[in-house]
This record gives sequence, structure tokens and C-alpha cells, in this order.
Amino acid sequence: MRTRTRLAFISTASVAMLALAGCGGGAADAGASGDGGGDVAPTTMKLALNQTEEHPSFIALEAFGEYLTEATEGRWNIEVYPNSTLGDQAEYVQSVGDGVIDLAVVSAPQLENLSKDFVVFSLPTVFESIDHQMEVLADEEVVGELYTSLEEGNNITVVGGLTQGARSVYTKDAAAETPEDLEGKKIRVQESPVFIEMVNALGASPTPMAFAEVYTGLQSGVIDGAENNEVSYFTQKHFEVAPFFSYTRHLIGADFLISNTDTLSEMSEEDREAFDEGWAQTWEQHTELWTSATEDAIEGAEAGGATFVEVDSEAYVDALTPLLDEFITTDSQQSLYDAIQASAE
Ligand code: GCU
Repeated sequence: MRTRTRLAFISTASVAMLALAGCGGGAADAGASGDGGGDVAPTTMKLALNQTEEHPSFIALEAFGEYLTEATEGRWNIEVYPNSTLGDQAEYVQSVGDGVIDLAVVSAPQLENLSKDFVVFSLPTVFESIDHQMEVLADEEVVGELYTSLEEGNNITVVGGLTQGARSVYTKDAAAETPEDLEGKKIRVQESPVFIEMVNALGASPTPMAFAEVYTGLQSGVIDGAENNEVSYFTQKHFEVAPFFSYTRHLIGADFLISNTDTLSEMSEEDREAFDEGWAQTWEQHTELWTSATEDAIEGAEAGGATFVEVDSEAYVDALTPLLDEFITTDSQQSLYDAIQASAE
């Protein structure tokens, strides 16, 4: 929920800055800072995140908040709630639409229910590399309309995309060098048809589950494995209970920062520009951090007893390529897919 924050609750630096800017703090219950200046109440946006404080998304989004506070002279602030403290991602989508929270990071499959076009971002082989993915997710011509397409029906604006890096399978008992090694194994997936089918196509048994439940799911044996990037594997400590990380790299996943549309429309033009600039910097910092965070995650997980194994990549690609035909079924999905492929050339 967006809260009108009294000056007393803002950080000392912000207070000092506001004092310098000559802003008053008495209008805590006044309307939003629609005129971009003067004696208006600061607004603090709640941002929901299911990652830990060590994750690049938390680090970059915290910096986003700091930038925004400074650039808007304290009129707009962001408070990041990490570690799934505001629930799971399926709830974030609902809460952001309803305005209960203002901002959240959700994985692409969470937006599939709102628009089938988002399926394209979760299919195998769609992105050549993280650089390719980041270019696409910030390309106004390719994603501009899609990012605003949920505003009318859902009151959600997609601010932009962040990489999840390549996702791979990890398991409790043995590495999965070929899809046959996964036969019959219960593998946790995100709550989405495309991820369910992906695991089915590998001959394993998909178990949809919220991210925050995966550790105990692995520990208790409700699931035999999961699939994710190295950073989440490490920061969520999944390596402790599933020490075999098999480099299937079956897709490069995408996260999206979503916002309540009404909240954004309350910003003055000047403050919205600051928000967009802050996001651009966040996006860049996150992409830069990703590589070193991945290296650190591998090192940390190995030190904790995990083994990283290369797999028969061709066998995985062969098993998963049919998903492209299965899930790209509409003209708009096809044109999005084509635009993504064209940008790789
Ligand atoms: C990644 C991704 C999250 C997602 C998670 C999952 O960590 O960044 O947004 O929730 O995978 O598998 O659920």
C-alpha cells in the first residue's frame, strides 16, 4: 500500500535534503504530489520482492529508491520488502492491480494469465544470450505496446524487464546429464502451463509451487528437484538440500517490474521522468551485477558442497523445441517471437 510518509519517517539524508529544498512536512494527509513540487506529502511506494537482500534485484532496486528520493527531493520514495514478506508472486499481481501495493517484481509466467503474449518470454531458445534478452526487454518498438497492454483491464503497467539468467535443473540425488535421468522425478515449477509442459516434455513430473516453499519442499522430499539460475540456487540456499546442479540452461528467464497504473499517473511529468531515469539506471546496474553475482553464487554453492555438471545439451534442446509450436499459437505471439528473433541477427 502506498503510504503518505511523514517527514519524521524518512531517512536523515532525505530530511536534510527536504529542508534544503524548503519543503514543509505538515501535509501528510494531503493528495499525491501531482504538481511536482511545493508543500506536498511525500509518497512511499511499497515494492514486493521474493528474493533476499543479497540478490542483485534487491541491491539494484534499493538503489532505485535512493535515486528516486533524491531526484524528486523526497516527493516519491520506494520501500523494498524482500524475502516474500508481502506474499508470493501470484499475490503480487493481484495486489499491484488492486493498489494494495504499488510495485513488485514478478517472473514472466505470472503475467501469462493476464496476457498470453508473455508466454513467449519463457520459451526455450527464444533468447540467444542475456545481452540479447536485455536489448529486447528494453526495446520500445518490440515491447512498448505489450508493457502498457495490461493498463486498461488490470491497472498494471510493466515498467521493464530484468534478467533471471539461464535456468537449469537441480536435484537432490544425482545429476541429470540427459532428460532420461529426470524420468519420474518430481520437479518444482513456477505456476504456469508453459513450465508444467516443459517438465512434462523432459519426462519428469511437474509440481507447481511458490518460490518461498521450494527449500522445505526439497528438504522434506515433496519434490526431488527444481529449476532456476545459480543466483537463486545460492541465495535461497537450495544447494544445501539439492546439491546436483545440471547445466541444462533450458531457457533464459525474465522478471518484470510491475506498477499500479494509477500510482504512476499521480506523478508529475518531472517526477515520472526521474522515475524512468531511475529505472534505466537500475536495469543497467542489475545487468552488470548479474555476471559477478552468478560467479559468486557458483563459488559459494561449491564451497557448500554443490556440484555443477555439464549436460547433453542437444538432448535437452531436442526434447524442448516442440514447445515453441505448442505455445506460439496466436498472431501476436508469433510477431513478438519474430521481432525477438530479428533483433538477434
Ligand atoms: C527466479 C526469478 C523469480 C522467480 C523464481 C521462481 O528466481 O528471478 O522472479 O520467482 O525464479 O522460480 O519462482
